[in-house]
Amino acid sequence: MTAMSSGYAKLAHLSGDEFRARLPEALSLYVAAMNYPEGTAEQRAPMWLTHALRDGWRCVAALDTDDRLVGLAYGYRGTPGQWWHEQVRRGLSGREGDQAADAWLGDYFELTEIHVRPSSQGRGTGEDLLRTLVDGVRQRYVLLSTPEGTSRAWKLYRRLGFTDVLRDYYFAGDPRPFAILGRTLPLE
Ligand SMILES: CC(C)(COP(=O)(O)OP(=O)(O)OC[C@H]1O[C@@H](n2cnc3c(N)ncnc32)[C@H](O)[C@@H]1OP(=O)(O)O)[C@@H](O)C(=O)NCCC(=O)NCCS
Repeated sequence: MTAMSSGYAKLAHLSGDEFRARLPEALSLYVAAMNYPEGTAEQRAPMWLTHALRDGWRCVAALDTDDRLVGLAYGYRGTPGQWWHEQVRRGLSGREGDQAADAWLGDYFELTEIHVRPSSQGRGTGEDLLRTLVDGVRQRYVLLSTPEGTSRAWKLYRRLGFTDVLRDYYFAGDPRPFAILGRTLPLE
């Protein structure tokens, strides 16, 4: 594991209570990393709290020497009935058929959020967060969605071996094209 030279002092798994206690700080990190308007944090709060109650939820934080968040990643086991699961199923079934959808969606961990404070990006924190988050996850696959493009996130996912599951997909209510990426677990 890398240390302070890579932009953080330590990585820690957060319990549900620790995550809830840090929610405002986590959402402000998210808004800064994604360059979203401030109000986005309030909209997201109930969703993030709901996510933290899901089966298999786990969260890893990168913290600085003053115990402030430098980065955060979380995810949970994907199951039928979850909005994201049903959206991806709709897209995969429509384009690749039910068998392909069953194959990817039968046993996976959804990497839901991963963000690093802008001033700390590009020093390995994102990779350490992702690796630590999925380390020990028992599902066969890890899946995520990310806006199409050439972002730093894309490069990170490609570097860690994520391949295309579905490209140029439109989630209900979002005008941006997304890619669904996935790979088998464990990461080597
Ligand atoms: C995506 C994100 C989480 C990645 O975190 P990160 O800490 O910047 O990622 P890393 O540092 O592990 O990797 C980024 C780059 O740093 C480089 N790097 C890693 N360690 C390094 C080091 N010690 N010295 C120099 N460069 C290093 C990597 O090679 C990588 O280079 P590349 O982008 O040219 O491929 C972060 O950039 C972010 O929060 N982005 C905005 C929010 C976002 O897009 N979230 C994901 C939505 S799907």
